[in-house]
Amino acid sequence: MVISALRRFIAERLASNGVEDASFDADNLVAFGLKMTKTELMINFDREVDSEDEKRICSLADRRISGEPLQYIIGEWEFYSLPFYVGDGVLIPRADTEILVDHAIEFLKTRDSARAIDLCSGSGCIAISVKANLPSVSVFAVELYQKAMGYLTKNVERNGVEIEVINTDVLAEPTGFEKFDAILTNPPYIETKTVKTLSKEVQNEPITALDGGEDGLVFYRAIAKNWVPLLKKDGRIFAEIGEDQAEVVTEIFENHGLKCQTIKDLNGHDRVIIGTVKDI
Ligand SMILES: C[S@@+](CC[C@H](N)C(=O)[O-])C[C@H]1O[C@@H](n2cnc3c(N)ncnc32)[C@H](O)[C@@H]1O
Repeated sequence: MVISALRRFIAERLASNGVEDASFDADNLVAFGLKMTKTELMINFDREVDSEDEKRICSLADRRISGEPLQYIIGEWEFYSLPFYVGDGVLIPRADTEILVDHAIEFLKTRDSARAIDLCSGSGCIAISVKANLPSVSVFAVELYQKAMGYLTKNVERNGVEIEVINTDVLAEPTGFEKFDAILTNPPYIETKTVKTLSKEVQNEPITALDGGEDGLVFYRAIAKNWVPLLKKDGRIFAEIGEDQAEVVTEIFENHGLKCQTIKDLNGHDRVIIGTVKDI
């Protein structure tokens, strides 16, 4: 079979088994299976694929059909134009989170000898993107779980940035930190009862990256109480939120001395709360 026919065959097989974006996934799986970029795939449509490769690509498609996320199968994903290893045990970086990074970079640019800490860092996509774009900022990344820590460490190395990776519990009281200009965070924020209703792809991602407690707000409360006091004068927190959480998270942050602004994502959903330490 030639590449174009294999691509069509895989796309149809994915689509008939209920995979959304079947053509996109098929292109990615065929390119990955043949160790090609998607551009190389496009310019080699007439090339014959040997039967070993065909079999391997069909088994990749079977994994996709069984609900494994495309990104886990490929083993990496792009965020903020940078490469990140992903796989079992770590949340796949989402394009919506780039808006948080945009705003954090704009703010940190204006601060001298700035220090920023990324809480609940996972793959490290937020911390690493900030550091890669603003090398003079001292960046710290906090993560609790070992599998995610493994990806975080590998991604720091892969992107050639210097970040202090800290293995600790964000819900516990922090000790021994100097003050920060910015706290960056995309914590678990889904209500416990809702986690079970998410798509099978999302349920393949670690529950520890999704479950924000009974009302989804456990991390915002803990961060406001324990970490916000570590912000310098005029320091800011940039927190990703679920699309229906702007009001409650604003209330939590305002009760801890922050003045808040809500930023929408590209789909028009509330996505980030920026809280600034009020002048006392
Ligand atoms: C929603 S994911 C965000 C990951 C990454 N920052 C991103 O934006 O893709 C939340 C992360 O918080 C981590 N996490 C969960 N509970 C934690 C805790 N108590 N302390 C530190 N990290 C925690 C999870 O392992 C997961 O990596």
